Amino acid sequence: MIRKKDVIIACDFASKEETLAFLDRFEGEKPYVKVGMELYYACGPDIVREIKKRGHKIFLDLKLHDIPNTVKKAMKVLSSLDVDMCNVHAAGTIEMMKAALEGLVRPDGTRPLLIAVTQLTSTSEERMQKDLLIGANMQETIAHYARNAQLAGLDGVVCSPLEAALVKEACGSDFLAVTPGIRFKDAAGDDQVRVTDPAGARAIGSDFIVVGRPITAAPDPVAAYNRCVKDFLG
Ligand code: C5P
Repeated sequence: MIRKKDVIIACDFASKEETLAFLDRFEGEKPYVKVGMELYYACGPDIVREIKKRGHKIFLDLKLHDIPNTVKKAMKVLSSLDVDMCNVHAAGTIEMMKAALEGLVRPDGTRPLLIAVTQLTSTSEERMQKDLLIGANMQETIAHYARNAQLAGLDGVVCSPLEAALVKEACGSDFLAVTPGIRFKDAAGDDQVRVTDPAGARAIGSDFIVVGRPITAAPDPVAAYNRCVKDFLG
């Protein structure tokens, strides 16, 4: 089923076997899957092909950041894997984001969604200002980077669910907010600090929630996924 909004499961596993065994549990269902650096670097493009062959949509979360020409060529390769969404760091500049977008367009004119990381949710305002020498505060920086991504023609940004409203205010309601940092109200937060539950993310305006451990480490992952879908999509 094509959904405009969706729950994306972060498949943060170390091997192909573990990942496919996990997806087998869903039987007829085909959840949207996020493949990140660990799995991609461990298994290579084959894991993407295998998951696509099984009928899932894929968000390939490799957060590219390099010179525009290199990013454009790398995106061409990723796009040919038929992924549905991929991402870059907005810190790579508007020029780099434009190049990424150009690289993604397939010969038939289609392309995956492209979203930008504004500031990693693991970066505190203090570290951003001291280490990166960014003088603005976190909110201004996120809004500015999101506007840059929009100027470059991207579809949206990855951000904390608590920042989704800020992004929509800066870039309009059609600009996508893809949000990790999701926890059920009755669960522990792990290492995620700025979190909300699926219903809260819906209320704030997230378009896609990215959920890892609350599903992958649940005693019944399928039930946890269905709970996310019900709470987020209504
Ligand atoms: O297990 P958990 O639900 O915390 O997983 C969240 C997923 O989203 C992980 O794959 C993590 O790498 C990713 N992510 C994040 N914060 C970002 C970008 C990506 O948590 N800013």
